[in-house]
Amino acid sequence: MQVRIYDNAQQVGTACAMLIAAQVTKKPDSVLGLATGSSPIGCYQQLIEWHKAGALDFSQCISYNLDEYCGIAEDHICSYHDFMNKNLFDFINMKEHHVPNGNAPDLQAECKRYDAEIEKAGGIDLQLLGIGNNGHIAFNEPNKHFVYGTQIVKLTDSTIDANQRFFNSREEVPTQAISLGIGGIMNAKCVVLIATGKAKAQAVRDAVKGDMDPQVQASILRGHPNAIFLVDKDAASLL
Ligand code: GLP
Repeated sequence: MQVRIYDNAQQVGTACAMLIAAQVTKKPDSVLGLATGSSPIGCYQQLIEWHKAGALDFSQCISYNLDEYCGIAEDHICSYHDFMNKNLFDFINMKEHHVPNGNAPDLQAECKRYDAEIEKAGGIDLQLLGIGNNGHIAFNEPNKHFVYGTQIVKLTDSTIDANQRFFNSREEVPTQAISLGIGGIMNAKCVVLIATGKAKAQAVRDAVKGDMDPQVQASILRGHPNAIFLVDKDAASLL
């Protein structure tokens, strides 16, 4: 695992966009694993800018998002489908983009379908990740073990508290989500995790320096041959 420390969140966003741009330039038909949350927004804005300037073409790329809430409609303002449309897909020419369906009538079948689809596409070339305050990646919450496949997750109080800021009230935050599993993330050829701000400092420390422990799901990335953490000074303050 490599850790690269930058002065501020803007520099982290640009560095992350550069890694994605390099991936797409090297392999125009890349399979990208994408993330939601506030962490990737700066990166997405930079990718959109380069695309508009004619410097970056996604017309052969396919993307798979990490996760989606269960029980809110795809066009709900807080859904990850809506987030991705408004923050990236509406402004670039991605050939195909996929987000798991948190409202599928058979959620277990949807988990299997999603994993099979990624495998059929050849696996993920570059997986972008944020990190939860509790060290989660995607919605893989602290647990007694690492779960390999896409799964339905009960969100922890800490995650519901953290994500409440996007909803009108805490009661509106869904309590369940569908999430790519740890196997899906570890199978990506390259993993890029971004973390900014003091609130992430403990999770970053635990992931980088603590034991490899499913209570801090991001710690498994220490066993990935090509994982890069892009962090600002605040998120790196406990390293
Ligand atoms: C959510 C998402 C994660 C994301 C995390 C951090 O829980 N499921 O994929 O990494 O939030 O979000 P933020 O970047 O907004 O801090």
